[in-house]
Amino acid sequence: MSTSLSKAKVLVIGAGIMGAGIAQVAAQAGHSVTLMDARAGAAQAAKAALQVRLEGLVAKGKFSADVLAALLERIHPVDSLAHAGSAELVIEAIVEDLQAKRALFAQLENLLGTQCVLASNTSSLSITAIAKGLQQPGRVVGMHFFNPVPQMKLVEVVSGLQTESTVAQAIAALAAAWGKEAVFARSTPGFIVNRIARPLYAEALALLHEQAAPPEVLDACMRAIGFRMGPCELMDLIGHDTNFAVTQAVYGANFFDKRYTPSLVQSALVDGGMLGRKSGRGIYDYTAGAVAPSLSPLAPVQADDLPRKVQLHQQAQHAPCMAGWQAALSAAGVLVELLPGSDWTGLQAGDLQLRQTDGRPASALGAQVLVYDWHGGAGGALAFAASSGASAQSLAQGQALLQTLGFAPQRMADLPALVAARTLAMLVNEAADAVQQGVCDVPGANAAMKLGVNYPAGPFEWLQRWGTPAVVGVLHALDDFYRGERYRVSPWLRHALWQQAHTSPLL
Ligand code: NAI
Repeated sequence: MSTSLSKAKVLVIGAGIMGAGIAQVAAQAGHSVTLMDARAGAAQAAKAALQVRLEGLVAKGKFSADVLAALLERIHPVDSLAHAGSAELVIEAIVEDLQAKRALFAQLENLLGTQCVLASNTSSLSITAIAKGLQQPGRVVGMHFFNPVPQMKLVEVVSGLQTESTVAQAIAALAAAWGKEAVFARSTPGFIVNRIARPLYAEALALLHEQAAPPEVLDACMRAIGFRMGPCELMDLIGHDTNFAVTQAVYGANFFDKRYTPSLVQSALVDGGMLGRKSGRGIYDYTAGAVAPSLSPLAPVQADDLPRKVQLHQQAQHAPCMAGWQAALSAAGVLVELLPGSDWTGLQAGDLQLRQTDGRPASALGAQVLVYDWHGGAGGALAFAASSGASAQSLAQGQALLQTLGFAPQRMADLPALVAARTLAMLVNEAADAVQQGVCDVPGANAAMKLGVNYPAGPFEWLQRWGTPAVVGVLHALDDFYRGERYRVSPWLRHALWQQAHTSPLL
């Protein structure tokens, strides 16, 4: 099998949103590109639309007219596969249907040379299944781009059971030459990104289901730790029909593993046609005149609400996130005693314990306990919950302390691991399972989530920041509270924990 595609003649099949983008990127990198669509005139129309879009960029000085002219010259729109024979690389971006993709590749095998690579841009179908029945299944590979193709850096290079490694390597090298970052994935449901991302949506939907907090609170808390959009607004943007379909596909493909159970909240939205922005209504209301919900304003901190003295409990791994707390409290007139080697993180003032969540609900920890969420130390919206016996004074003091530390505290129901902690722990858990099962490696998982869906950090970077014991502790607390398969700890994390315990008994 050919190992270099650097000068390959490319045939892109399907001139929809993805195919047009792939054709642009390939032509921009200097390849001769045939763009084919079965719908008469569709490939021509896609090229014309690309021209209009890029001329707009030329007018703004963001694209050179010469480069555009050369790029357009390299794209040849066609309505049939009559001239497919000379292609050295086919990238199909047709309808997401297994039979259609199989039929297309079977037809192509009779038209193409034996060295031509057959790549599929499928986002959910098995590469192994697409290759079934072909004469040369080893040349079928996934080349999964993200939308919009010219802007998104990630390409998942997906190998099925029969994909030859030289083919996957050649596709990865080509993606790199096109300015993309290639990450290798084994063909399993959702590949890397669509699999690891499931908990971002699932945990938000579970919290809505349990009436833990309003969606604007969930969104604000996730934005505060660096996500560009909160999970609810993101699902509204993606469309609940699409998001629900992917969740159902991953659930079914995993033989109904409870980990991936779809949400009744989302199925109701889909049933009601409340698909998100595109239908004017989803979790939020986008109809004309609708007022976007905002967080309740916080009253300024009163000096009376602050305790005179606090103890600052610091577990070693959380110290970086607490930098500056002593200074902020002192500036507000609160005496601070540091307890660096504590076995919990947070503040104590008399009976009140204001603890960073270890996963357990506040009520499980004591009568005057408030737990607050994981944070990145940058302030902003922060979820907290209070034990059912917490007094009005404990509540007022706890909130005043969080505000003094730069947070906008958001009270939610007393459920385990609040918002960010449960979501991040579950994203890490999913990534750990993906690595355990050989779907990708650790750097691949980090790169895929940052480049494919703009996460502020990779799952294993969060693991490093929070520490394996804290992440596993949160998962155990969730598992203990809810029981069932959903929050079971990945074997990879258990081994990481044991390994750390043997090499560093303090962790
Ligand atoms: P689209 O509906 O915009 O375009 C599909 C095009 O393929 C249409 O123009 C259609 O006429 C053409 N087509 C259908 N069957 C054909 C056939 N047998 N031969 C030739 N042309 C045919 O779809 P889109 O969104 O571009 O998706 C295409 C593929 O890319 C799907 O497999 C999808 O799962 C995948 N994908 C989509 C992403 C997205 O965000 N839209 C992201 C990543 C992958």
